[in-house]
Amino acid sequence: MDKLSSLTRFKASCPFLGSTKNATLRTLCTNASPRFPSISALTERATKCPVMGPALNVRGKELVAGYASVAGVQDVAQIHRDHSVSVPAGATIEMCPHASKARAAARTASDLAAAAAKKAEDDTAKAAAAGGCPFHKAGVAMPAEHPPVPKAATAAAAATAPAPAPARSGFNYEGFYVNELDKKHQDKSYRYFNNINRLAAKFPLAHTSDVKDEVSVWCSNDYLGMGTNPVVLETMHRALDKYGHGAGGTRNIAGNGAMHLGLEQELAALHRKPAALVFSSCYVANDATLSTLGSKLPGCVFFSDTMNHASMIQGMRHSGAKRVLFKHNDMVDLESKLAQYPKETPKVIAFESVYSMCGSIGPIKEICDLAEQYGALTFLDEVHAVGLYGPRGAGVAEHLDYDAHKAAGNSPHPIKGTVMDRVDIITGTLGKAYGAVGGYIAGSDDMVDMIRSYAPGFIFTTSLPPVTVAGAHASVVYQKEYVGDRQLKQVNVREVKRRFAAIDIPVVPGPSHIVPVLVGDAALAKAASDKLLADHNIYVQSINYPTVARGEERLRITVTPRHTAEQMDILIGAVDKVFTDLQINRLSDWVREGGRAGVGMGEVDPEPMWNDQQLALGTPAAPRTLHNGEPPVVDRAGVSAARSLFNVLLGPVITANTVITNHAKANVKGIDGKALAGMGKMRTGGAMIREKLDIPVPPPRPATATA
Ligand SMILES: Cc1ncc(COP(=O)(O)O)c(C=O)c1O
Repeated sequence: MDKLSSLTRFKASCPFLGSTKNATLRTLCTNASPRFPSISALTERATKCPVMGPALNVRGKELVAGYASVAGVQDVAQIHRDHSVSVPAGATIEMCPHASKARAAARTASDLAAAAAKKAEDDTAKAAAAGGCPFHKAGVAMPAEHPPVPKAATAAAAATAPAPAPARSGFNYEGFYVNELDKKHQDKSYRYFNNINRLAAKFPLAHTSDVKDEVSVWCSNDYLGMGTNPVVLETMHRALDKYGHGAGGTRNIAGNGAMHLGLEQELAALHRKPAALVFSSCYVANDATLSTLGSKLPGCVFFSDTMNHASMIQGMRHSGAKRVLFKHNDMVDLESKLAQYPKETPKVIAFESVYSMCGSIGPIKEICDLAEQYGALTFLDEVHAVGLYGPRGAGVAEHLDYDAHKAAGNSPHPIKGTVMDRVDIITGTLGKAYGAVGGYIAGSDDMVDMIRSYAPGFIFTTSLPPVTVAGAHASVVYQKEYVGDRQLKQVNVREVKRRFAAIDIPVVPGPSHIVPVLVGDAALAKAASDKLLADHNIYVQSINYPTVARGEERLRITVTPRHTAEQMDILIGAVDKVFTDLQINRLSDWVREGGRAGVGMGEVDPEPMWNDQQLALGTPAAPRTLHNGEPPVVDRAGVSAARSLFNVLLGPVITANTVITNHAKANVKGIDGKALAGMGKMRTGGAMIREKLDIPVPPPRPATATA
């Protein structure tokens, strides 16, 4: 097929080709561009098209990449020697089939780039729009930060786009995907997912794609190892046998049961709020709640911290309400922006307690003060704090009044004047410290009921499986009862930070449990992560743009109470070696260069959120880091509290040591023998009165003054 007939096939889908005579097209595609001789006049025009321009840009980069892959002079000489090619005296590049093609490719690439750069894109788009091209009109209408999204393909796209030929005539969907992905590759934000299979019996180890290849995981958000806690797993087995797998429907239709209602009551009590509502994740909880609030509150204005998570940003955007950004944790900036609106205007301040990529902590109390002064609601995301802060694990808001909340124990009632009481809406996840999946909001009865009644993200989706809900509930109750995991985690975090500081590894300073190790370059951060995995069997995911700003790429290390002292030694040594091997900036390098991302900028390290007293340091109750081979602590009271929750729904746990009374024996009679056999030591059935634990609870370990 000659060039013209392959073009005319697309006359129906491309307005430019459709309205241009065949003779003109023939001239355009057979004549070289006068300014850029290696490309045709038609290709030069196509570089100005919002559809074709990006495709040609990709093609140009591919050509350059191909050219760049040609070996250097010495390598070429070696290749010639290896293949017994003798180069005649006076030989030119044109005489070599490889070199001449490479040079032609490079010329085409640079001509394409020059043609594309010649005229400002918006000028071209406006000119084309004036000529009646609908695609160009769309391009003009779009805001600058959004590249024009093509609505149909042009003939030239089919002829020159790098993607596979479209399976049907019309828009080149595959080409479009390739272009979008190419942007990610170009700016190094393309995400590579590692195959990591965390092993329940060997936390924090996981196997990779090869089941025999085990690595230690240092970046999981299963912050406390609750995804493998024995009472959580036991509860899930019990629930699975009784209720099966899926929920069977939405909360509205067949998917609302005692498990869901029980968890919501528990979460409300955890935050000492009247009500809570569970969603399939906290992404959904944030999105659904903020979009509903913003669309329902008349004239609502959001005030959003610039470091807020994508789920909140999406929720605010979806609402259509106005969004005002305030500088991260900057109360002066927030106040100046709040002050621009009348007190009567409905306002929502959306922020987080622990910012998970830098480890900073939001000034919750100060934000509550401003909210009261300016008539705003507070919306606090405690996703990276629930389970981890506070005497009962309710988060940073609880932690700020540690003693008052500790004294109040499990009372569900608010403690007036405390920070947690002052926050209007708290959101949390069941997927991180609680080791499960799901998210929730907690707040006033009517707020929760309104979201329940209006939020599509809550209403129109299958509810979480009862087995998952039961596991999450057991986890929340266990952590509410047992503070030891939280304390040991913080002790281990302190130790890792201290040891990194001692070897000049740059850690973004912060008062929380997050250990962000600054690398400062996307490719280098990925290389460091790959090297840790390949050379040291350590998995730490690199964090690149857009999760963090360009130039602030990092390794985000999470330390759990289940990491052993020996595993820490290996981590510290491995990071040290990788920094040396890849010549990554150390803290002292950043200091010399003026600092970045809070590293080496002369700021004083903030005091850790958990103080020595809260960690029981210097007392016999001080947490002690595990050593290889030592079983993790399983807390007896935590196990009992979690188990007893489900006695009514699931029947009691009957262990090998359970003392069965006559009354209980009568109740147990009816149990299906086959089901019992299948469940091993754990039994469900009639009401039991006494139980003894057969979850192994290691004996208390000798205490030390410090970790
Ligand atoms: C601050 C923040 N909020 C919300 C979410 C979403 O939580 P989930 O994983 O439950 O969807 C995340 C997830 O990483 C997060 O970091």
